[in-house]
Amino acid sequence: MAMNKIIEAKDVAKSFRTEAGELQVLKGITISINAGEMVGIIGASGAGKSTLLHILGALDRPTSGTVFFEGRDLAGVDENSLARFRNASIGFVFQFHHLLPEFNAMENVVMPGLVAGRRYHEVEREALGLLGELGLSARIRHRPGELSGGEQQRVAVARALIQSPRAVLADEPTGNLDTLTGNDLFDLFVDLNKKRGISFVIVTHNKTLSDRCHRVIEMTDGRLAAS
Ligand SMILES: Nc1ncnc2c1ncn2[C@@H]1O[C@H](COP(=O)(O)OP(=O)(O)OP(=O)(O)O)[C@@H](O)[C@H]1O
Ligand SMILES: [Mg+2]
Repeated sequence: MAMNKIIEAKDVAKSFRTEAGELQVLKGITISINAGEMVGIIGASGAGKSTLLHILGALDRPTSGTVFFEGRDLAGVDENSLARFRNASIGFVFQFHHLLPEFNAMENVVMPGLVAGRRYHEVEREALGLLGELGLSARIRHRPGELSGGEQQRVAVARALIQSPRAVLADEPTGNLDTLTGNDLFDLFVDLNKKRGISFVIVTHNKTLSDRCHRVIEMTDGRLAAS
């Protein structure tokens, strides 16, 4: 039986216009992520990892090539539908947490649920559970500026999970965390992958963590090298 592909990119290229001219950042990337798979992406700074992750998660569009999510070509999808689709299907954990500074931890976490029109009490109950699992029960009324870097990142993880996404794309999720907290966060990812079948694509410089993925892909200068 063929495995279900959750995300598929075919011949994806991305270039940016800069003052110095056209900068080609992704140079023809073809990659499939299977449903329920945990894939690590490694590679030097500037290799194009974040750019690829944004395109796989439909936050950005390729210059050429195609991205499919569960078989659906995202090129023809307008921005509003794309935003709804991301809200319902994909959780993002960014290299920098992107929490809203004027809202507290709980408010940041429930936000995607409220945007989707869910009832406050239901979303709040789930958010309490997630924040508890992440060791943040005593910090739910703190604003991002009143949290440590690691705590901010864990709030961002809870926010990424609140809509029960089918895929989580994470960019250096443990970059700001000490080893112990980083391992705990990864344990949670592995647990969510096993219990709920959520697919993960994780950019990380941490070999101990990438070794726990089902598969690791290396990027070099805008291309993939399977390793
Ligand atoms: N919007 C943009 N405009 C112009 N150049 C960009 C843009 N975004 C990224 N780049 C360039 O593309 C290259 C790849 O960037 P990207 O952020 O994908 O790298 P990365 O592999 O994630 O690196 P790091 O490990 O440092 O996060 C870099 O050289 C960067 O300067
Ligand atoms: Mg990056």
